[in-house]
Amino acid sequence: MNFRKILFLSLVAIISLSTNAQEFFKKKDLMSVGVYYYPEHWNPDQWDRDIKNIANHGFEFIHMAEFAWAMMEPEEGVYDFAWLDKVIELAKKYKLKVILGTPTPCPPVWMGIKYPEIYLMDANYQREQHGTRANMSLSNPVFLEKTQLIVAIMAKRYGKNKTVIGWQIDNEPEAKEDYSPSAQKAFIKWLQKKYTTIEALNQAWGTRFWSQLFASFDEVHIYNATSVGWWGTNPIAILDYKRFTADTQAAFLDFQAEELRKYIVPSQYITTNYVAKGGQTDPRRSTKMDFASFTAYPNYGSSNLGDLGFRLGDYSVLMYANDYYKSVDGLTGVMELQPGQVNWANHNSLLQPGTVRMWLWHCFAGGSSFACTYRYRQVLYGSEQYHHGIVTTDGITLSQGGKEYVQVINEINQLRKDYSEKAKTPEKLAKRKTGLMWSFDNLWNLDRQCQTYQWNTWGHMQRYQQILHSLGAPVEFITEEDNFEDYHFIVVPAYEMVDEALVAKWKKYVENGGNLIVSTRTGAKDKNAHLWESNLSGIMNDLIGGEIEQFDMLPGGKSGNIVMNDKTYHWSSWGDLIKPYKDTEVLASYKDQFYKGTACVLKNKIGKGTVWYVGVESTDGQLEKDIIKSAFNANDIGVENYPEGVFVQYRDGFWVAVNYSSTDYELNLDNKATILIGEKVLQPAGVTVWIE
Ligand code: GAL
Repeated sequence: MNFRKILFLSLVAIISLSTNAQEFFKKKDLMSVGVYYYPEHWNPDQWDRDIKNIANHGFEFIHMAEFAWAMMEPEEGVYDFAWLDKVIELAKKYKLKVILGTPTPCPPVWMGIKYPEIYLMDANYQREQHGTRANMSLSNPVFLEKTQLIVAIMAKRYGKNKTVIGWQIDNEPEAKEDYSPSAQKAFIKWLQKKYTTIEALNQAWGTRFWSQLFASFDEVHIYNATSVGWWGTNPIAILDYKRFTADTQAAFLDFQAEELRKYIVPSQYITTNYVAKGGQTDPRRSTKMDFASFTAYPNYGSSNLGDLGFRLGDYSVLMYANDYYKSVDGLTGVMELQPGQVNWANHNSLLQPGTVRMWLWHCFAGGSSFACTYRYRQVLYGSEQYHHGIVTTDGITLSQGGKEYVQVINEINQLRKDYSEKAKTPEKLAKRKTGLMWSFDNLWNLDRQCQTYQWNTWGHMQRYQQILHSLGAPVEFITEEDNFEDYHFIVVPAYEMVDEALVAKWKKYVENGGNLIVSTRTGAKDKNAHLWESNLSGIMNDLIGGEIEQFDMLPGGKSGNIVMNDKTYHWSSWGDLIKPYKDTEVLASYKDQFYKGTACVLKNKIGKGTVWYVGVESTDGQLEKDIIKSAFNANDIGVENYPEGVFVQYRDGFWVAVNYSSTDYELNLDNKATILIGEKVLQPAGVTVWIE
């Protein structure tokens, strides 16, 4: 290859990699709405009718193929794409766009028979088999080879097709535990890369405890809590296994993305659909996709807020997903949003009419560039028979959720007319913008050592997120690598593992005028999950302005009292006993127990800024809310007081309010406000959209 050709190809490569994620969606389109369609489930005679109806209802794209490997490759090396070609042609005919899924969650039967090693092994060393989905060993070379082949074949076929706008890799990627020989081998390789020498691994894992010393990497095995009991298993070995599992999952996605990228045009995007909340997959570990999208099933059989909560869903699902996934690459969308009743929850109640519409508007408010629903037609067979779709079992009549989708599509079309590219984020929101620090490594380690059944790592973080929303503060999830100076406030809930560099970065941020709100359990360990060879707060002492000497917890049902500014608060699950330094202000202390009078909340001024250390978890969150409120007020920043379950957010010139609570809420609207959708009084499942 001559020099000019190399130069040309390098330029092409740079240009194709540098498509800015924002360019995949036009801002003026606000949120494009689509639906999953499974042509392989229906008589081909009905495809034309179905696609036409989907288009007539106003959907703008369909999503297909993520479970259809057996239809694409009925025999090893024998491919059939005629059916998919036909449906993509129909989509084109009815002016719909297409998102294609790579079919890796469901390899065909022949593959498992011929290569049983493609399946993962569970913690009982039982090999899984065909009959469900997403149970492959992502460390297995045969499965990776088969994956590469099918992805390349699809990408070559549809990578330049103008109807296809994007790709979803796999489906709801899960970082599943795998104890198969392939995983054992890959784990050792991962450890060798991380530690280089066995001495370093022994040191990091603390293998002198209970005689776990390894003489060489070959001796290392995946620690299996199922075999030996969770209480005795080495927590650091388990943490590394979690990290390995998440890295393996991420590498699987990146591997597919790289394969797709070889053949597709840059205007087709690559994403995957992460589970909204609670999954073990860490989206930040994948770097080769364009953006992260998510799936949300807010009503999963829990009671939620108030009398109607069991029909309105858990608000924290979309609250988390909206803020979190947007923070990953600056752009997101909801790839699956529950259309009605599901089949898999412990109880599958009907939704309160209006709920699906409220969720859609919540996604819109949170910034989604698109919203798609699983699925168009309710399936007549298979494990999801009782799962609602946009149309009912007859294939044509809109379900309640379907009607609400169509309503939102029409409402968005209306709103598109009011879109102005000149709209600017209101100043009060810009000032309140808060960074929330959160990492999966910390989650995994804390969850392994809760120390009390009352500790809930997700719940602890989400309490802070909810408080910020109730005060009307936009929340962005941030990492250690982000620029802290972009935020007036940073909240750090239970960020257990730290190092000198992170503590120094926090300190510098505060010295320069930042407001850092740090909660209990933060900084209790180093990055290897070891405790400090000093007091409990180790290298955090100077930052928080004191030393944590002990921590306490009470049995459930029993609460202790705390006093702050003459107001009494209650706690039960976790409380630090802190010895403050001379110049540190004690904001709150315990009012009872044998350590009555001991500090639990500190305020430490450093340079131009302030650190609040909240060393206790209150029972109802009121203490944390009052502290954050006072932090905003100390900076002359006014806040709102939205009740739990009411979200008021701003996006692209529009204010949106939704109500997951069971009572009406009257919005306090500015005189300049013009309501475009809904009313001033927000009913349960209500939506109001206005401009100011
Ligand atoms: C999702 C999954 C979909 C479908 C759906 C049913 O978690 O990604 O494929 O199974 O659940 O609610």
